[in-house]
Amino acid sequence: MKIKFLKGLNDPLYALHVLKTRYIKIPFKKLIFSNIEELRAESDNGLYVSSINKALNNQKSFEKFKRDHSYREILEHVNYKQGSDYLEIVRERNDGLLEKAKKNVLKSDDLGKPIKYKYSGIDFPLSPTTLRYLKVASDLNGLFSKDLSKVAEIGCGYGGQAYVNDQLLNVEMTTLFDLPYVNKLIERYLNSLLMNGAYKTISINQATSMNYDLVISNFAFSELPSALQDAYITKVLSHSSRGYLTMNSGLIGSSSKGKMSLGELREKLPNFEVYEEKPLSSDLNYIIVWGHNTEFANSNMHLKKI
Ligand SMILES: C[S@@+](CC[C@H](N)C(=O)[O-])C[C@H]1O[C@@H](n2cnc3c(N)ncnc32)[C@H](O)[C@@H]1O
Repeated sequence: MKIKFLKGLNDPLYALHVLKTRYIKIPFKKLIFSNIEELRAESDNGLYVSSINKALNNQKSFEKFKRDHSYREILEHVNYKQGSDYLEIVRERNDGLLEKAKKNVLKSDDLGKPIKYKYSGIDFPLSPTTLRYLKVASDLNGLFSKDLSKVAEIGCGYGGQAYVNDQLLNVEMTTLFDLPYVNKLIERYLNSLLMNGAYKTISINQATSMNYDLVISNFAFSELPSALQDAYITKVLSHSSRGYLTMNSGLIGSSSKGKMSLGELREKLPNFEVYEEKPLSSDLNYIIVWGHNTEFANSNMHLKKI
């Protein structure tokens, strides 16, 4: 958290927010939780859902929800350098997605007022978060081909990854699993845009077991307590022929407390490979992949030594 505070020094209002919420612990906002304590993910911290509630009930707040400090503690915190690394990876792959994205998702990217930076070789400012979604879409394209058919996503933010996938790849239907309040924000966000395919939002308790062609989850399935991970495995992950999960738990360290270990995941998920996350956003992160094209993985990704 100290690092977060120091990083925030070039954004004094954000630094003040971290100081108030984490160090002085001033209750300056109404807290709203989605789950009982035992079932709360890291993001279900009271302030995150509260900021979503504000965006849902006030047009002005919705128009700039990506700038809300409590929201940015959970999402919209990809920095300039990470954005630049994502851009370089996609540029080097030369898979056609960057050119396409420059005409749609990177160009018309103002909903929620994301923070943007100027990047070399691009003549308009870009959101580093959207660059991360673009890099994931490029991974999915290489690992599984453009035709993704029926996709399930677990922990979807505002639906940014689903929208980028929809615009750049061929997705017939995305089923987005998130918390009920978050699902409302996703609907508000995606219904403001025009999609090629279809989507629906659902909470884990509203879902029955279904088959999917691909399940994805970035920094989300791995943040759930193990009881919820188990429910998602039973209803979603074990029914998906292909999978792509960016993980920030399962090895060692405090972020793995209360989550399934990599060994437990090996017993419960379809047979998978573990790759390095590039660029690495945190030391113990990794990517789980199954049902993929190993040729692409061998030339574009590195197996993680564990
Ligand atoms: C760190 S964010 C990652 C969001 C998105 N995947 C991205 O990469 O931008 C974690 C996500 O998990 C969601 N989440 C929290 N509890 C959840 C639950 N019980 N079921 C599904 N998603 C949940 C949060 O609402 C949020 O969308």
